[in-house]
Amino acid sequence: MRAAVFNEPGLPLELTDREVSTPQAGELFIRLKAAALNRRDYWITQGMYPGLKSDVIQGSDGAGIVEAVGSTEDADWLGKEVIINPGLNWGEDQEVQSTGFHILGMPQDGTFAQAISVPVENVFLKPSHLDWQEASALPLAGVTAFRAVTRGQVTAHDTVLITGIGGGVATMALKFCVALGAKVLVTSSSPEKIEKAVELGATAGFLYSEAGWEKRVSREYGPVSLILDGAGGPGYFGLLQLAAPGGRVVNYGATAGAPDKLDLFKVFWKQLRLIGTTMGSSVDFQNMLACVEEFQIVPSVDTTFSLETVNQALQHMQSASQFGKIVLAVE
Ligand SMILES: NC(=O)c1ccc[n+]([C@@H]2O[C@H](COP(=O)([O-])OP(=O)(O)OC[C@H]3O[C@@H](n4cnc5c(N)ncnc54)[C@H](OP(=O)(O)O)[C@@H]3O)[C@@H](O)[C@H]2O)c1
Repeated sequence: MRAAVFNEPGLPLELTDREVSTPQAGELFIRLKAAALNRRDYWITQGMYPGLKSDVIQGSDGAGIVEAVGSTEDADWLGKEVIINPGLNWGEDQEVQSTGFHILGMPQDGTFAQAISVPVENVFLKPSHLDWQEASALPLAGVTAFRAVTRGQVTAHDTVLITGIGGGVATMALKFCVALGAKVLVTSSSPEKIEKAVELGATAGFLYSEAGWEKRVSREYGPVSLILDGAGGPGYFGLLQLAAPGGRVVNYGATAGAPDKLDLFKVFWKQLRLIGTTMGSSVDFQNMLACVEEFQIVPSVDTTFSLETVNQALQHMQSASQFGKIVLAVE
């Protein structure tokens, strides 16, 4: 089968032929129809991810059809259209993942390939309202956004600020928050992306590149009770300024690096809750799928590349021009 393999930081992924894996007991063999990129794939190619190994098939997200099973008791899965939860070995604790937690695509072979074998507990039926590309765009960003939203305890009474709305996780978070009835404000580097977010139900957007945008948010929309941030960096300071007293700030990433300062006086005087979150458990994944089905949520697919042009897809991610997910169609 064809596969895109990570060898060394700074080098393009190698498009190569690989032996098709045989499913072990408790695994399902899935013929992939589509895979999707995550920022993690870009970090890996840049050598900016812990525990890198060479000769690993990249990719965490995938959707396809079950073609073989490793155990006869899983035979009911044969022919089923499925998506893959890329988080392996979460463990029993719903609060936090186990030390054995890892993600498909590093250090274990991932989804940028024509097929993959994964544990049956990581396989879920594809929501029927999604096509292959939309379905492949859902798992990692969907579960991360859903857990961020649930850990932030969003309700219809909240005014939520979502930073960097062009991101795959941010667009999914927007859809969940709108579905749950919250008022959503967004930030972006791009007026066009703000327009798209408003079309999807955001109330308004602000350019994070413009000095003083935080004051405009407070002036025009009042206190922000929940902030969902995947950027961190120098902008994090301003987020704590505009968080309402008693507000929650959920962080799921640090695209812009570590904050250069942290105003602890704001944190304790305003009784803020700073909440970290990473991907999600099987329970989170199942609940995310239920929410996607109930509200007929469709992930935003920005561009679709072929598996053979995965390196162009990674360059597209580097340019940060996307709105939502970058997908690979797999033949
Ligand atoms: N903890 C987890 O489980 C988990 C899971 C998934 C992702 N992540 C992390 O979360 C982050 C986003 O991931 P993703 O896959 O959604 O990435 P992505 O699709 O590549 O999106 C990145 C977005 O970040 C925004 N951004 C960049 N610099 C910014 C800044 N200074 N302030 C505000 N926004 C900024 C941009 O938004 P605009 O284009 O609108 O400007 C960009 O589109 C990454 O750091 C990733 O590693 C963590």
